[in-house]
Amino acid sequence: ALRQSFALKAQKENKRSWNYIQPQASYKVSILGAAGGIGQPLALLVKMSPLVSALNLYDIANVKGVAADLSHCNTPSKVSDFTGASELANSLKDVNVVVIPAGVPRKPGMTRDDLFNINASIVRTLVEAVADNCPDAFIHIISNPVNSTVPIAAEVLKKKGVYDPKKLFGITTLDVVRANTFVAQKKNLRLIDVDVPVIGGHAGITILPLLSKAKPSTTFTDEEVQELTARIQNGGTEVVEAKAGAGSATLSMAYAAARFLESSLRALDGDSDVYECAYVQSDLTDLPFFASRVKLGRNGVEAFISSDLHGLTEYEEKALEALKPELKASIEKGISFVQKEA
Ligand code: NAD
Ligand code: LMR
Repeated sequence: ALRQSFALKAQKENKRSWNYIQPQASYKVSILGAAGGIGQPLALLVKMSPLVSALNLYDIANVKGVAADLSHCNTPSKVSDFTGASELANSLKDVNVVVIPAGVPRKPGMTRDDLFNINASIVRTLVEAVADNCPDAFIHIISNPVNSTVPIAAEVLKKKGVYDPKKLFGITTLDVVRANTFVAQKKNLRLIDVDVPVIGGHAGITILPLLSKAKPSTTFTDEEVQELTARIQNGGTEVVEAKAGAGSATLSMAYAAARFLESSLRALDGDSDVYECAYVQSDLTDLPFFASRVKLGRNGVEAFISSDLHGLTEYEEKALEALKPELKASIEKGISFVQKEA
């Protein structure tokens, strides 16, 4: 009787804890590059989501074991594995959101643009398959250089006649995650209260945190602004150097990607109060792609939060003008990569 009552107690507690997840919706998610440094922890976080009923893991190698491992977690989503080009199409059937972290990461001394030659082709091929198999899906591009891979994806989708600019996202959430963390530390704020919009792009000076728009409203000295901006802009490099050749951010990136995915799924599910920063097609500036806060809805980007760009400080205004030439060149590089092969 004693053993039985312990079992009942455990069962009750389990039902209240994170390892017993009640399904709340039934969206299908596919991760392309799922066996990688980001792919694996991201897959674990997605497996924890009550909004996901099917989790498809695609990679060119090593994905079978990842899927077998994850499939033993007692959460509702069904995990399936897909290996190699011949299984890519099947990994995308009826999928609502495709997350793409496939590609090579940086090593110390490299810029994100140094990854272009390898990752541009990978993203092009994967997005062609997305266009053919789930053209209505939200597409989350993580593969670097994001400033160019998102324009590449847009051109591929245009060529296939299925481009919906509202559903293509470059994932810049990690910049916001870093900004929130660093600002909370510096100013002794409660992490849960802090929200810093980060605009522009996702490389070096194109990453522009708007500290003047931080919530809660906070005063920064000029030195603090410079120091925090530089740390947020160099957050990726900080991790690349610490990993000393073993890759770039994977765990914090998986966390950030899972946050953006959860927001997308909530928006798809009809939540009318979902806001995230993302690098998307935009007319907020004279650049065709630009990261800003957007409101997400069932059909993707529902509105741009243009007020973030009004009333900037002089420092932010200057930084915004300074980032434009680099971002413009990265966008053009991506577009011409697809157009020149026509
Ligand atoms: P990784 O090398 O650990 O994993 C990449 C995975 O992609 C590997 O499993 C590999 O087999 C797979 N892959 C390679 N070619 C593929 C193809 N054609 N189809 C499917 N899968 C393929 O690298 P990682 O650390 O996971 O980083 C992945 C990418 O994410 C890099 O380009 C990195 O720069 C980028 N990244 C972006 C952000 C961001 O904020 N947007 C943050 C961190 C990393
Ligand atoms: C990051 O910001 O961590 C990523 O873009 C990876 C990198 O190369 O810095």
